[in-house]
Amino acid sequence: MNPGTDRAEAAVPRAELGERIMARVDALAACSESPRALTRRYLTPEHRCANARVSEWMRAAGMRVHIDAVGNVVGRYEASSPGAPALVAGSHLDTVRDAGRYDGMLGVVLPVACIGELHRRGERLPFAVEVVGFGDEEGVRFESTLLGSRAVAGTLDPALLGATDTEGMTLAQALREFGLDPARIGEAARRPQDVLGYLEVHIEQGPVLEAEGLPVGIVTTIAGATRLAVTLTGRAGHAGTVPMSMRRDALAASAAAVVAVERRCRAEEGLVGTVGRLEVHPGAVNVIPGEVRFTVDVRSADDARRAAAAADIIAAIEDIARERGVACAVRELHVHPSCTCSPWLASQLEAAVAAEGLTVRRLPSGAGHDAMALAALTDVAMLFVRCKEGVSHHPAESITTEDAAVAARVFLSLLRGFRPFGAAAASP
Ligand code: HGY
Ligand code: MN
Ligand code: MN
Repeated sequence: MNPGTDRAEAAVPRAELGERIMARVDALAACSESPRALTRRYLTPEHRCANARVSEWMRAAGMRVHIDAVGNVVGRYEASSPGAPALVAGSHLDTVRDAGRYDGMLGVVLPVACIGELHRRGERLPFAVEVVGFGDEEGVRFESTLLGSRAVAGTLDPALLGATDTEGMTLAQALREFGLDPARIGEAARRPQDVLGYLEVHIEQGPVLEAEGLPVGIVTTIAGATRLAVTLTGRAGHAGTVPMSMRRDALAASAAAVVAVERRCRAEEGLVGTVGRLEVHPGAVNVIPGEVRFTVDVRSADDARRAAAAADIIAAIEDIARERGVACAVRELHVHPSCTCSPWLASQLEAAVAAEGLTVRRLPSGAGHDAMALAALTDVAMLFVRCKEGVSHHPAESITTEDAAVAARVFLSLLRGFRPFGAAAASP
């Protein structure tokens, strides 16, 4: 579904930055597979719709715009000396299913609106500022994640071109349908010398800032993640005739496995585990489930703790399968280590927060972000924005216009005061 002209923006010609940001996030939310639930997957018409919207706002902000080799939308606000290295900002434009509208989108819309302010005032900085709207961070379509940001960081494995979506289309075919050449995905990679650092503005997706009455926070570390795909194969049969003692019920085994995931992750602080998707085959009321496929997502800021938990979970699922006479196959979909934000860059965010008279609150991120992938290319830092009751990955996800305006002022303050690594340390 593609939006019409954005009445909210047209109706507020001289909108304050916060209002402009909120209106644009609303406009982006119209790029969705359904008007009833926000869902936008990588390399789909909805993704193209979002890229078009963001490109329009980037050009209005005096930025040069292109779509890179993997479908990310990239805008560049040139430096006072053309061709200078760039401070990169951004986040993702894809969503989970039935999503909230700020997760990812805020980190693209806010920097572009801030650059629009610089442009309106004819301000140029001694460095370029680039904003990237990454096409795939959630990994909903191809089960892997951070595809857009890994491509920019130069760490995207070309073997992923064979990954298939639920319709059986490969990533390579989807790139072609989007008008891109799978053989050229390497061209999305940036050179380290062209990038001064990466900043991501993102909703907290947790309750801490709201509980402490703070509009923004500075991220210390981003939790690492392990994603598994599990298939348990028993034997389908007639629900009315197969005695309980003779069953190889794949769903009953999966239920035990789900509880095992929860039990293992409850056993330790700083560990979370989730079974987010579960498919039952054949899925009829009067048929014993023959096969069940489900996912496991394990997170921790401590990589060794996460790896140990993932290994224990796999062993527990294999034991359950053996006891119940079902076959078990476990596939690792994605593993990403935790990421520590760079002190020199985070401290400039902290200075910008303090310059706005705000409390500097450092906090970890339990959610994953594109910054984790960009950390392979350059130093990264993140600014969190308070969100209502910490709700995210849900339509009730929300922030206030005031907090959007505060975060925009912090971002602008950082841009105007930014000093590249080394320059920050050298001068008093
Ligand atoms: O799963 C995550 O943490 C992120 O929203 N992709
Ligand atoms: Mn998300
Ligand atoms: Mn996100």
